[in-house]
Amino acid sequence: MRKSIGVLICGFASILAVTGLTAAAQHPSWAYGFVEMPAPGSVPAAYVPPPTPVTPALPSAAADQVKHSLPGATRTFTRAEANYQYGPADWFPNEHPAAVPDIVALGRLDAAINACGLCHYIGGHGRQENAGIAGLPYDYFVQAMMDFKNDLRHSADPRKVNTNRMVAFAKAMTDDEIQAAARYYAAIPWTQYIRVVETKTVPKTRLLNGMFVKLEGTGTEPLGMRIVESPEDFERTEMRDPHSGFVAYVPIGSIKKGETLVKTGGNGRTTECAVCHGPTLEGLGPVPGIAGRSPSYIVRQLYDMQVGTRKGVWSSLMMPVVDKLTAEDFVAIAAYTSSLKPQASVRQTAAR
Ligand code: HEC
Ligand code: HEC
Repeated sequence: MRKSIGVLICGFASILAVTGLTAAAQHPSWAYGFVEMPAPGSVPAAYVPPPTPVTPALPSAAADQVKHSLPGATRTFTRAEANYQYGPADWFPNEHPAAVPDIVALGRLDAAINACGLCHYIGGHGRQENAGIAGLPYDYFVQAMMDFKNDLRHSADPRKVNTNRMVAFAKAMTDDEIQAAARYYAAIPWTQYIRVVETKTVPKTRLLNGMFVKLEGTGTEPLGMRIVESPEDFERTEMRDPHSGFVAYVPIGSIKKGETLVKTGGNGRTTECAVCHGPTLEGLGPVPGIAGRSPSYIVRQLYDMQVGTRKGVWSSLMMPVVDKLTAEDFVAIAAYTSSLKPQASVRQTAAR
């Protein structure tokens, strides 16, 4: 008898866990770069230090001797050089401030900190599986790094290991390095990098390096209630070409629906974003811009904040915003914000 009550209680508890006592939206696996939901019972990963790194191979492996070029670039790199963890390709040195801090260009080998430019690119465009960090306000950037450092920010998806790597880098960085990186990236305006397309069906994709890569010539599949974000040209993205951006396929009608939520708050469902993120959603004071950024990234942040794995010093301002949002709302909001064309030049001029 006692046993069966125990079973009943366990059963009840797992029903609660599935239906969710909290009002959390359904886990948006697509935004984390996965097709399936996380395994039942898996909890958001606490920070786990990565294994001690081995000294990386220098980018001169005999297997890779072909120097590649890119449209508009004068430099050439082998594939290994372009992706070198401690000095990735800087394809367009005239498109960012001339003085690149060492931590951005090279990282720091003795502390196993990869160059920021590896994942976020030297110009700060980043990719769907990490973050675009160009144009973030200096104070926000520094606070984000402190939140990673102090275990206030990690991914709600236990499988997303690159966020854990980000945490490890932040923990190993000195204050000087954090400030140098923040100053450098804050000075680069955010420009349009993502093309948003409303559609019912999408090209079939496969997962490669955390990105949904189009499989050419294999037909289409229904989009459903998700966003499929994909490199425009996977080969160029793998060479870290900052001129080759992403396409985001979003459900028909989602941009309009997102616009209503963002601009009106949707009858108390959320809060008007412009109040804090600025009239063009390109940031206001220390509050970061959200216009024209990766919709996968945006949805991950909204969901991480909703379930509380992102609970940084400033995140409480976002709690009333995300509290009641559903998975469908996330899709609509991100479809709209990523469709906005940043007017960075205007903002830069105004700031002077
Ligand atoms: C291995 C890839 C990788 C490298 C190298 C890397 N990052 Fe990140 N970074 C990430 C990922 C992944 C995220 C978070 C994405 C998520 O959880 O949605 C992130 C997020 C960030 C954010 C938060 C952006 C925002 O809008 O809140 C900042 C700031 C940042 N990184 C700065 C840096 C700096 C500075 C360096 C150089 C020391 C660096 N990163 C190196 C992968 C990387
Ligand atoms: C009351 C002020 C306020 C309002 C209203 C607000 N935000 Fe925010 N938002 C913030 C602050 C502050 C942060 C930084 C949070 C942190 O550091 O953890 C933030 C961060 C974010 C981020 C993460 C950005 C990044 O680079 O990681 C997203 C995405 C976001 N907000 C979306 C929205 C959307 C969408 C709305 C409207 C539906 C909205 N916010 C309304 C204050 C606000």
